[in-house]
Amino acid sequence: MKVLVIGGGAREHALCRSLSLDPDVTALYCAPGNAGIAEVAELRPVDQLDGAAVAALATELGADLVVVGPEAPLVAGVADAVRAAGVPVFGPSKEAAQLEGSKAFAKDVMAAAGVPTARSYVCTTPAEIDEALDAFGAPYVVKDDGLAAGKGVVVTDDVEAARAHALACDRVVIEEYLDGPEVSLFAICDGTTVLPLRPAQDFKRALDGDEGPNTGGMGAYSPLPWADPKLVDEVLQTVLQPTVDELRRRGTPFSGLLYAGLAITSRGVRVIEFNARFGDPETQVVLARLKTPLAGVLLNSANGTLADQAPLSWSDDAAVTVVVASHNYPDTPRTGDPIEGLDEIAEQDAPHAYVLHAGTKRDGDAIVSAGGRVLSVTATGSDLAEARERAYAAVGRIRLDGSQHRTDIALKAAGA
Ligand code: AMP
Ligand code: GLY
Repeated sequence: MKVLVIGGGAREHALCRSLSLDPDVTALYCAPGNAGIAEVAELRPVDQLDGAAVAALATELGADLVVVGPEAPLVAGVADAVRAAGVPVFGPSKEAAQLEGSKAFAKDVMAAAGVPTARSYVCTTPAEIDEALDAFGAPYVVKDDGLAAGKGVVVTDDVEAARAHALACDRVVIEEYLDGPEVSLFAICDGTTVLPLRPAQDFKRALDGDEGPNTGGMGAYSPLPWADPKLVDEVLQTVLQPTVDELRRRGTPFSGLLYAGLAITSRGVRVIEFNARFGDPETQVVLARLKTPLAGVLLNSANGTLADQAPLSWSDDAAVTVVVASHNYPDTPRTGDPIEGLDEIAEQDAPHAYVLHAGTKRDGDAIVSAGGRVLSVTATGSDLAEARERAYAAVGRIRLDGSQHRTDIALKAAGA
């Protein structure tokens, strides 16, 4: 099977790594990719948001499957263009991707499907904003309706900061604050059948102790030793299946990856958000534990044949990933800094620890930073403590001027 992956972050590196280990995959391409992905896949330049260009590339390569990684191409309708060209694609249609592309749309689907989520108001005027902020009180949760690369959400006790963020958005969702640990649960879907993966936890704040600004995610781990073993079944019954059923009922079936961001509150599980693609960095730890070869599972989603998929097989190992970010991430990340130490990790820490590239590119013989999140250092171990130790040992070998990482990824869970 020839597979083309669209995207160029650590999530796509994790996908390409798994696909490259799949004996059914005879050729692997990634567009546009990055310096790390180039080691496992052949890179092709492409404008990810141009559906016609992606479809033409897939046809030219004779791809049997296209996997669209990031949300922006999905929301732009790239999966539709590839499907229309007759190539099987893993990723939802533009309409179904609205589950991620519009928070107001997601709330509407959840209300219709009876899926538990925070109570919310959609506001477009200053008067509506003030009314909603008053109705919920602090802490205030204010979300830009559209895609904002993880930076559209402000959670604050400061009503002025909440109001300022709300006024800066065209359309804003203001909602009830949800207390409790967060869980990310991914499910592979084909419009009808829902196949949940294993849960992971992401660390969204920039600094240790969950301080600092929200980011795209600074690290993740799986499994969650503190979670109820019945959690996945419960979320399948109360969240994932009803959402997929509702979208099918509306004539916009969801196929691809449905990502439920959940809060485990004292009153039960609540959806914080949906995404329409694999999460980053959670994918790095979830795929590190998946033993079933990946390509066939994704192809079953693309072809609508997930009902025939054999149950997935999982490693008992734990996995931890630590994101190494550039100087000044998430505000105005500095790029172009050389990255050293990667060879040492390949020599001394593999195969238990390895580096997935996010924002990197090749500059002559050097690999340099090219984005806010630069590397996602991933490790497995017999438990979280061992996986953590290995991940941080590898992080310690990386030399990247001004870089930052959290030191407490999976720390609490490893002691649990
Ligand atoms: P989102 O982009 O919707 O995932 O929001 C980013 C982060 O903001 C989430 O991971 C949570 O940590 C936080 N957040 C979002 N919505 C809520 C909420 N209703 N209550 C508490 N925290 C929230
Ligand atoms: N880990 C958060 C995200 O992928 O949106």
